Amino acid sequence: MSSRTSDVLVIGGGIIGLVTAWRAAQRGFATAVVDPEPGGGAAQVAAGMLAAVTELHYGEQTLLGLNLESARRYPDFAAELTDLTGHDLGYRRCGTLAVALDADDRAHLRELHALQLRSGLDAEWLSGRDCRRLEPMLAPGVRGGLRVDGDHQIDPRRLAAALVDACQRAGVVFHRAWVDRLDVVRGRAAGVTTTDGTALGADQVVLAAGSLSGRLAGVPDEVLPPVRPVKGQVVRLTVPRRYAPFLSRTVRAMVRGSHVYLVARENGELVVGATSEELGWDTTVTAGGVYELLRDAHELVPGITELPLTETRAGLRPGTPDNAPLLGPTPLDGLLLATGHFRNGVLLTPVTGDAMAHVLATGELPEVARPFTPQRFGAVLTEQPA
Ligand code: GLY
Repeated sequence: MSSRTSDVLVIGGGIIGLVTAWRAAQRGFATAVVDPEPGGGAAQVAAGMLAAVTELHYGEQTLLGLNLESARRYPDFAAELTDLTGHDLGYRRCGTLAVALDADDRAHLRELHALQLRSGLDAEWLSGRDCRRLEPMLAPGVRGGLRVDGDHQIDPRRLAAALVDACQRAGVVFHRAWVDRLDVVRGRAAGVTTTDGTALGADQVVLAAGSLSGRLAGVPDEVLPPVRPVKGQVVRLTVPRRYAPFLSRTVRAMVRGSHVYLVARENGELVVGATSEELGWDTTVTAGGVYELLRDAHELVPGITELPLTETRAGLRPGTPDNAPLLGPTPLDGLLLATGHFRNGVLLTPVTGDAMAHVLATGELPEVARPFTPQRFGAVLTEQPA
């Protein structure tokens, strides 16, 4: 057994753990990340919509503030990361069109539009004809839609690769291992032990393990974050050059109560997502999941059936009771959370990195992140762990 120490140890090398480590290292903390495969996780599955406005849901107005703030930071964040690493992130300021295919979808979209306007957001109602003028590949039956020019996209796989690179350049140490348990010494998080028996000590530990965050051994029950896995299946197609531009912006719809979206990248990749399934840790790609995605996407854009099918994949969103992330200190000294980003992990990456670096340096969450303290769920440490 060996023992290595750092100022900050981040459990989890997905995009949230990586951005936290990168920003912490930039602040001068000796930082380490423990993960068997840094840059992996849900970012390998996610489509990468930056959809603060089109993914607005009733009851999520507080989350909307954080989403909008992160969207506002995206241009500078992407430019900084690209300047530093040379990686093209596939950041595309293309806007989004959310459309309706039948009367129920139309009523739903009208409700969403009213909520967006009440929330002071920019969204324009278009007739079906105007939708098809913008996106000629849309089905003739489209009944109307919402044009949201502020909802963009990024390629999460490229983002993850760039963040690994940025971390390395900033001196972050990577421990490529699974964490067995959190180590608690005299009532304080003191590091972790990996499954190969290595002890990694730290002054502050950040739990950023996505959907796995809710089941780390050694974390007192009262402190374990209420995070659960929510399965999402996606399909990737390729648009041959001769068909380009197939779609000029992200296109989405509610079809018979299920969300479907098509995210077209400049490199020809077309991501169709996503199912939303409460099935525990299952990441099987099912015939039913793929069938439903392709059926709904075909109703929206019939021409997709001509395209080569390149990949099918399933991942796990880290869901929370209020669909919002958990950021900052826990009742266990030395343990902080950066997890539970649910549907918005890619969007929330910039603001999470900034908020976590701030709280690591000062002990306080910045104003924008305060509503997302883990303490909102009322966890109290009833007895001091040994
Ligand atoms: N934000 C897209 C999804 O979670 O499927």
